[in-house]
Amino acid sequence: MTMPESETITKIKQMADTLFKQAVTLAAHEPKDLLPAAEEASKQRPPEPLAPKPAAVAEPAFLPSPDYYFLSQNPAQKQGKPAGHRAPPAYDPATVRRDFPILAQKINGKPLVWLDNAATTQKPLVVIDALTRYYREYNSNVHRGVHTLADRATEAYETARKKTAAFIGAATPEEIVFVRGTTEAINLVAQAYGPMIVGKGDEILISEMEHHSNIIPWQLLARTTGAKILRLPITDRGEVDLAAYERLLARRPKIVAITEVSNVLGTINPVRLMTEMAHYYGALVLVDGAQAVPHFPVDVRESDADFYAFSGHKIYGPTGIGVLYGKKALLEETPPWQGGGNMIKEVSLEEASYNTVPHKFEAGTANIADAVGLGAALDYLQKIGMAQIARHEQTLTAYALERLAKLPGLCLIGTAPHKAGVISFTLAGHPSLQLAKRLNKEGIAVRAGHHCAQPLLHRYGLKDTVRISLGLYNTEAEMDFLVKTLERIIRSE
Ligand SMILES: Cc1ncc(COP(=O)(O)O)c(C=O)c1O
Repeated sequence: MTMPESETITKIKQMADTLFKQAVTLAAHEPKDLLPAAEEASKQRPPEPLAPKPAAVAEPAFLPSPDYYFLSQNPAQKQGKPAGHRAPPAYDPATVRRDFPILAQKINGKPLVWLDNAATTQKPLVVIDALTRYYREYNSNVHRGVHTLADRATEAYETARKKTAAFIGAATPEEIVFVRGTTEAINLVAQAYGPMIVGKGDEILISEMEHHSNIIPWQLLARTTGAKILRLPITDRGEVDLAAYERLLARRPKIVAITEVSNVLGTINPVRLMTEMAHYYGALVLVDGAQAVPHFPVDVRESDADFYAFSGHKIYGPTGIGVLYGKKALLEETPPWQGGGNMIKEVSLEEASYNTVPHKFEAGTANIADAVGLGAALDYLQKIGMAQIARHEQTLTAYALERLAKLPGLCLIGTAPHKAGVISFTLAGHPSLQLAKRLNKEGIAVRAGHHCAQPLLHRYGLKDTVRISLGLYNTEAEMDFLVKTLERIIRSE
């Protein structure tokens, strides 16, 4: 079933207008003024039948909700006004910052400016407290207890799964597998599902802008199966070359693995369009959402990704917990990945039958506390509103880009119009590592290096860049301070 190329390219062009809209997944609840152009573009898209989103997930009954964060200090809430009459609190990063105790410290005598959010995000008190509470009040192993604490821990762990499903729009919590992080999620798919569809001579399509976590697992799969990696090129601005994508899809790769947001360029890829095209050509799609979920609303059913991976620690949750979303039917046909307790139904010495999804993929004692912590982080973000966060970060990114671009000798790497708050640059005469250390003297934490994306850096003829990456608590004042500091460095050194 080959579509004539011209027709396909026309289709790409028509859909290209909706890309940013798709990327930020502006659902019906989004404020109208978020992105007027995208709003307009979305009107051209035919409405799609989606199963209803899961309703907000309630805390387990034994856990009264904490009541001391800025969101619950909204005066309307305090007066007990009904939800419908409550004006949403204006987004104020200065207030949000109070929820993040780590941000109050000084580094080298200067206020900490945390601009390394793509590496990891800081944790709000509500997450820190959820972890403490778990260990103080109801620590227990899950799923196999007959006592009260086991019931409580199980309920909290499964509630975290429900919250995660609701957060990314999964059809059911059974589609959420808890893993260590994005890396483990992708390895799970590559090692357990991959060999079912990839064989000798088959092809796996990955883009030039992937993090090593979305490269190496596929290389390992290719090596064990005799398959081949296909390179999806990017343009100079740092966008996926969609015409090349269509040509490569026509070769019928079995799997497309694509990041939703580049951890170096910040580019927001049109995953919905890319998934639709891949499905048309019969390829399965894994989306690396590590740098997407913290920045804008994500809806896996809207993008129709077959698998979607992200890490808790990059979305204001704990380290050591991450998520693999998989369509239920796909997870069901995937063989177990690791063997052990929890993932079985019946075991004899010779053979075993396996548990239902997602438990089939969660062998051994789960990372219960951190799953609970992740649930608390997602609640926190949902209370603020991912649309508010997206708007704040978009404004701040545009502000930072405008100011940085004016600095003499500074070269921005990745100038796609649709970017999340990840900005890479080089500064003439200032090696990236030295510059990052110099900024650290002023309390500014940035990342320098290849950012685990060496093929991408090579694409630009670079070995390293300096990267600033924004989060919900960053402020315009911090951007001003960064730019002033860079100006001083440029002038004086
Ligand atoms: C785009 C992207 N994918 C995957 C990863 C790997 O995430 P983790 O180390 O949490 O597994 C990262 C981490 O920086 C990333 O930015």
